[in-house]
Amino acid sequence: MHFPNTLLAMACVASSVVAHPGPDVPLARSEIVRRNDLSKRCASAAASLNQKRYTKRQLNRREALEARANSTVTITTEAPYYQVIQNDTCVLTPEVTEGPYVWPRSQTLRQDMTEDQAGVPLWLDVGVLDMATCEPLEGVLVDFWHCNSTGSYSSFTGLSPNTPFPTLLSEMNITQFEIGTTDLHTDDTTWLRGMWPTDSNGMMEMKTVFPGFYTARTIHIHAQVHTDWVLHDNGTLASGNKVSTGQMYFTEELSAQIMALEPYVSHTEIYRTTNYNDTVFDQDLVGGYSPLIDIVAADGENVENGMIGYITIGVDTTAIETGDE
Ligand SMILES: *[C@@H]1O[C@H](CO)[C@@H](O)[C@H](O)[C@H]1NC(C)=O
Ligand SMILES: *[C@@H]1O[C@H](CO)[C@@H](O)[C@H](O)[C@H]1NC(C)=O
Ligand SMILES: *[C@@H]1O[C@H](CO)[C@@H](O)[C@H](O)[C@H]1NC(C)=O
Ligand SMILES: *[C@@H]1O[C@H](CO)[C@@H](O)[C@H](O)[C@H]1NC(C)=O
Ligand SMILES: *[C@@H]1O[C@H](CO)[C@@H](O)[C@H](O)[C@H]1NC(C)=O
Ligand SMILES: *[C@@H]1O[C@H](CO)[C@@H](O)[C@H](O)[C@H]1NC(C)=O
Repeated sequence: MHFPNTLLAMACVASSVVAHPGPDVPLARSEIVRRNDLSKRCASAAASLNQKRYTKRQLNRREALEARANSTVTITTEAPYYQVIQNDTCVLTPEVTEGPYVWPRSQTLRQDMTEDQAGVPLWLDVGVLDMATCEPLEGVLVDFWHCNSTGSYSSFTGLSPNTPFPTLLSEMNITQFEIGTTDLHTDDTTWLRGMWPTDSNGMMEMKTVFPGFYTARTIHIHAQVHTDWVLHDNGTLASGNKVSTGQMYFTEELSAQIMALEPYVSHTEIYRTTNYNDTVFDQDLVGGYSPLIDIVAADGENVENGMIGYITIGVDTTAIETGDE
């Protein structure tokens, strides 16, 4: 893993947490400050991006829901998606927290990455903002991957979600592990991995299910933003620049509510690590802020029937990592 002149953090306007890059290397204070300043510059642009989206949602709410593939959501109210405009803008950059389960050859172009995975439906809406211009970024590829409702990642289903990572490595007799280099994949399953480009408003949407948890990590979704991307025929990334790598989280209250439901509740082998106990999501690191996904119930009533999650990713275009996948 190379660390060029890239920046090792994730920061948010109004809210800011910094993820440890790799295994727990803290970020330089100066970099945290730089990130926050960068983010704040675009606060009103982020607000306006959200305002556009809010208006669009009001107008197209029913149509948008009905258009979503195989939604089982019953539309019962006309309540808006976002009653409060959120101005948070996360800055996600390369090399932060890609984690050991990134697997580009299973991450394909599609707007529904659920496949056959059980769980509470989640429509992830992401707005991408160029922090250099404070303008929405069109045509960048937003790439997601996360574990299923009982903690497994596709392509790595042979690795137990209940075994601490160092133990997994020693069981495999691996003494040297490098994220993105060491090949740990066990199969070719592709569920809960997918990517889709942003539209002219810098927006994209991905349908998935609410993630579960695995050992030592709080519930999270990995996201990466690629520019100048080229795909293989099968929809996986052939090449592109990574301008952003980060992880997105849910509030503890929401996680607790969803984890009480099947099939999540059947995952009893390990205790769930909370946001507070996670080494990546470190509340104390920078003022107690966090890259939390903004959630509303898809039916306007109960998130347990499905939910829409929104987050803005602010891309630092000076932190580009080039390279083939
Ligand atoms: C978002 O920003 C706009 C403009 O800066 C401001 O008017 C609005 O109150 C902010 N909303 C929230 C929820 O902070
Ligand atoms: C929705 O799911 C049903 C049952 O699984 C299937 O028969 C139908 O073709 C699906 N529709 C779409 C639009 O995918
Ligand atoms: C897609 O094609 C690439 C290049 O041939 C290959 O490495 C990858 O495994 C394929 N992925 C899927 C999901 O078919
Ligand atoms: C999650 O994936 C693993 C590995 O494929 C599988 O054994 C498990 O049943 C899945 N969880 C659910 C709830 O389907
Ligand atoms: C790891 O090494 C031990 C001892 O040499 C051996 O018994 C075991 O089969 C190896 N495991 C794997 C997955 O190669
Ligand atoms: C997790 O965090 C909570 C709240 O900060 C703390 O009270 C608890 O002791 C922590 N648990 C573990 C296992 O670290």
